[in-house]
Amino acid sequence: MNPTLTRIPIGLDAPFRALHLSDNHLSLADSRDDERKNRLAQRRQREFDSAGKGVMLHITEQLAYAKENRLPILHTGDLIDFVSHKNLETAETLFKDIDYFMAVGNHEFSLYVGEAFEDEAYKMQSYDFVQKHFRNDLTFASREMSGINFVAVDNSYYRFTVIQLEKLKKEAEKGLPIVLMLHCPLHTDELYHLIMDDLHFPCAYLTGTPEPLLKPYDDYRYRQQKPDGATLKFIEYVYACPSIKAILGGHMHENAESILPSGVMQYITGGGYKGYAREIEFC
Ligand SMILES: [Fe+2]
Repeated sequence: MNPTLTRIPIGLDAPFRALHLSDNHLSLADSRDDERKNRLAQRRQREFDSAGKGVMLHITEQLAYAKENRLPILHTGDLIDFVSHKNLETAETLFKDIDYFMAVGNHEFSLYVGEAFEDEAYKMQSYDFVQKHFRNDLTFASREMSGINFVAVDNSYYRFTVIQLEKLKKEAEKGLPIVLMLHCPLHTDELYHLIMDDLHFPCAYLTGTPEPLLKPYDDYRYRQQKPDGATLKFIEYVYACPSIKAILGGHMHENAESILPSGVMQYITGGGYKGYAREIEFC
């Protein structure tokens, strides 16, 4: 395993190291799930195995590396590709002896991948079943490690809520430096153009993309990724909050770093299923 090494200066007295993983997309099913899900598992395993090295081999190596080097894992979602007994059970077993903290991804609540418009009602169909397999609250959670307040917020459907903003404000009152963990990166023009112009995707899959830049999206992606009022207020607060020192994200399946207009850096770690991992030294 060959992690990307990143140093994030946030004014700590002593350095703190962790392994940032994202988007492993475990794609497993067994007889407890229906035939449709088992067919989906086979298809998705083939898709995520395009590099010829299995998804399971990568995650096994990543977790072994974390253990050997005593690194807690900061995971930014899509650990599983879809909701299945086997996926959730495997995730729980793999992380049994691992210290981890997680921000949830859109695929954690995906029942059959791309079969429905993903909104709160869709998420709620599997929420309780998924949540019970993970240690931290998947909607909003905070955890202090070595003087850093890691705050994981669910923006897996490109939106934040009023309640998440209230909770984030309470976290800022604690006075510690905050590292925000999100699945979907926040919009920057740089990321938008990288995804649309260089990688040639039909939309940028970012949270908070301004209206004029959503024009080329089809109707589905426009409705999905257009930020609502609560989302824009949350982002405005992130820009203004001096405690927020860095953002960790995933969802893109490629490594990227992009600075927000407020000067805060976003570190996006690529797909774990391709072997991406980022070893971070906060200092
Ligand atoms: Fe993903």
